[in-house]
Amino acid sequence: MSKVYFVGCGPGDPELLTIKAKKLMQNADVVVYSGSLIPPEIIKLCKKAKLHDAAKLVREEIFDILKTNTRKGKLVIRLHDGDPSIYGAIREQTDNLQKAGIDFEIIPGITSFLASAAALGSELTLPGVTQTIIITRAESRTKVPKHEKISELAKHKATMIFYLSIHLLSDIVKQVIEGGYPKSTPVAAVYRASWKDEKVITGTLKDIVKKVREEKITRTAIIIIGDIINPKSYEYSKLYDKTFSHGFRKTKIKS
Ligand SMILES: C[S@@+](CC[C@H](N)C(=O)[O-])C[C@H]1O[C@@H](n2cnc3c(N)ncnc32)[C@H](O)[C@@H]1O
Repeated sequence: MSKVYFVGCGPGDPELLTIKAKKLMQNADVVVYSGSLIPPEIIKLCKKAKLHDAAKLVREEIFDILKTNTRKGKLVIRLHDGDPSIYGAIREQTDNLQKAGIDFEIIPGITSFLASAAALGSELTLPGVTQTIIITRAESRTKVPKHEKISELAKHKATMIFYLSIHLLSDIVKQVIEGGYPKSTPVAAVYRASWKDEKVITGTLKDIVKKVREEKITRTAIIIIGDIINPKSYEYSKLYDKTFSHGFRKTKIKS
């Protein structure tokens, strides 16, 4: 019996697919894909597959398609946008397969916050500013644990990344200010990073809500908050400093 492949197909640009993902997609017999977040150019690569849009299915129907076809020896893919491990609801799928004695493999993909950082031209972990990234979401119908309140997370003054939350931007702004971010803190919203209609909106906590509203962006965006976007100052890295030695290079300063 074959196994189910959970494949991350990246943020949208087909050239950001991994070679492994592309090969599997070209050979797949059955593909269950995350409809609204994967562009047609990527779906087209599944040339000979029977396609199922997961957006139209409930959990049990997805499990059934994955299990029945794998048992028939078909090459079955569960295709996720970005990386499957980020807000991909894969655990419920992999557990269900394992209970049925079906193996699985996860093929990672480029997640949308990395494509968003690239679109912004930013380094998310900037020496002298922050060495930490907090990836989270605002609470909506999916609850977020109490100890992960945005105002608490904001106290770290790390780079904050929000998935699934652009429609709740004004709540996020209130909460990060409550957590200690000054109103002048830079913010970016990246809509459909790496798609042909990508939009990058930058501002501060003071004006970002208005700017995003003006662009009418209500879905498929990543929010990035932090001084790394527009740093007033930062430090050069130690790694490439001529006074710094490490396992692969001795210091270039003679004493
Ligand atoms: C259900 S989550 C899936 C995330 C996905 N697994 C990933 O790794 O990017 C959907 C959310 O991801 C973000 N997203 C997905 N694709 C995006 C893109 N190309 N540009 C910006 N945000 C994106 C948005 O926040 C969207 O609401």
